[in-house]
Amino acid sequence: MAARLGELAQPQDCTTLTKIPGISADTVRSFFSLLLTAKMLDVTSATENDTMTQWEFHDLLFHSRSRMGRHDYPLGKTHPFLDKIPPLPAVKAKMSDFSGTVRAIYLYKPDIPKLKAGDVPFTWVLEERKSIRNYGGNPITDKQLGEFLYRSARMRALRPSMTMIECSNRPYPGGGACYELELYLAVNTCDNIDSGLYHYCPQDHQLCHIADRNRKVEALLKNALGSSGEDELPQVLIILAARFQRVAWDYQSMAYSIILKHVGVLYQTMYLVATAMDLAPCGLGAGNADLFATAAGTDYYAESSVGEFMLGSKGK
Ligand SMILES: Cc1cc2nc3c(=O)[nH]c(=O)nc-3n(C[C@H](O)[C@H](O)[C@H](O)COP(=O)(O)O)c2cc1C
Repeated sequence: MAARLGELAQPQDCTTLTKIPGISADTVRSFFSLLLTAKMLDVTSATENDTMTQWEFHDLLFHSRSRMGRHDYPLGKTHPFLDKIPPLPAVKAKMSDFSGTVRAIYLYKPDIPKLKAGDVPFTWVLEERKSIRNYGGNPITDKQLGEFLYRSARMRALRPSMTMIECSNRPYPGGGACYELELYLAVNTCDNIDSGLYHYCPQDHQLCHIADRNRKVEALLKNALGSSGEDELPQVLIILAARFQRVAWDYQSMAYSIILKHVGVLYQTMYLVATAMDLAPCGLGAGNADLFATAAGTDYYAESSVGEFMLGSKGK
């Protein structure tokens, strides 16, 4: 009977459900009618079935619980942990490598006023943007990587708290200006930057070295290759990790859904910047959050990966 209950996470035909060895069909029917009366089950028609069958249990629960309409829980910017737990700082402290040393690489900063005056037109960028999964003969350069990160993800200013949480300002929008997304770079090949894993410090526009190229970094790159369906490792894999509690401190019921929206916002910003810079960009749908956490030395529940973006030089 317990196994049959598990099956009810997906729509089922009642004729199959009532066939349980050792239990009469009448008893099973009475049990399910009890669940129906208690509104723990719902009846769907054959046509509704096609719709419902394609919902996975966790997706539907997430959808209904992180939007208004199907529950009475508090939702939105309620600051559920105010006066209970201090909020995380707006900027994550610089990361050290596994020996405890902070090794930072200062990145190139582009001339933004010059770009504003003479960059390629916005509509050209929008219309030319596409996913590219193959790269040019030469690796992306440290200068290009610096410009790319500066234009898409640097911290422009630290803002005094408008609400109760310290905020910042960046090129892409973010709910509550929380900016919980952290960028990690698994560098396969880049001119003047050694292969390995780095954390991007958005305040000082630096890459902080976490690890040399090792088996975990290799596995992160290979996972991305698998998702792209191509046969060339990305030159640089940008991993988007979330400091979850930055958002959970501020928002109730919808923190994780907001974080995933931020991933989309940042993907598009990175796509557009890469296109304007004639680089090869491609967002990815899945990555291994556990592998990331062990590679970077983060706590899975405090900060783990929620998105991946491949970047490299563009072929002719
Ligand atoms: C959220 C998201 C997930 C994606 N996941 C993958 C992926 O796992 N592998 C891949 O090769 N492309 C992935 N892409 C790229 C899409 O396949 C691509 O955007 C789509 O086919 C449209 O093509 P275009 O970007 O060239 O316009 C993803 C894009 C987004 C925005």
